[in-house]
Amino acid sequence: MSPGAPALVETHCHLDLEAYDGDRRETIRRARQAGVAGFVNVGFNLESSERSVALARENGDFWASVGIHPHDAREVGPKALATLRDLGSEPRVVAIGEIGLDYYRDLSPRSDQREAFRRQLRLARELRKPVIIHDRDAHDEVLRILGEEAAGLTVILHCFSGDAVMAARCLEEGYFLALGGAVTFSNGGRAREVARMMPLDRLLLETDSPYLSPDPYRGRRNEPARVALVAEKVAEVKGVDVAVIARETTRTAIRAMGLTGLTAGGPS
Ligand code: NI
Repeated sequence: MSPGAPALVETHCHLDLEAYDGDRRETIRRARQAGVAGFVNVGFNLESSERSVALARENGDFWASVGIHPHDAREVGPKALATLRDLGSEPRVVAIGEIGLDYYRDLSPRSDQREAFRRQLRLARELRKPVIIHDRDAHDEVLRILGEEAAGLTVILHCFSGDAVMAARCLEEGYFLALGGAVTFSNGGRAREVARMMPLDRLLLETDSPYLSPDPYRGRRNEPARVALVAEKVAEVKGVDVAVIARETTRTAIRAMGLTGLTAGGPS
């Protein structure tokens, strides 16, 4: 980390993807230099969940989340759940996800998506792990199913795309919200409104790399170093120093996901 750069946690990235096969180490190094003290690499199917666990084993500042994305809902049978249970029991696996509903792309039948979502929420309860939620155009059903299945769980809504009214409802439920590149987009007014009203003890920062690159890199491959741009925009919107945003959101990430060994001052 460069001296003086505030420590940040990248709470959602997919650095296991092929998109980084040519320069994964460089990409990680750039992020560390930009102040990223911790990374949560998030699985979206069994293979990427396994790769996420491998990254967390190899890097002291990486943690993993394991789960099956709604696009692959049909894979979530007894065998896949058994594999997720094994992976989810690994010490550096800090969450189950990303799981949820995607009614925008609708790549799986919605009834299958709901069933896969419920099964993985139950697994998270069994393993006592937080959940990382993917929600696209399915706000009401996501909140309904969470209401039915997520009692006692730490819930993180990743890449939060609801409005301030939904955010307020999530706060009431005790959920954490994660914001990414959308806060920097010219049409990202809704995300900025959410950033403005979110208390820092419930707000997480992420990039969702390689997707959703913040401005001025929109449309290009994203990378975790750019979580610093998300932090800067959130600081600007809230009228708070970026060092405060970094320190508080890092504390929140450590608390939400139990990132053992990480402090708001960097890895110990
Ligand atoms: Ni993602």
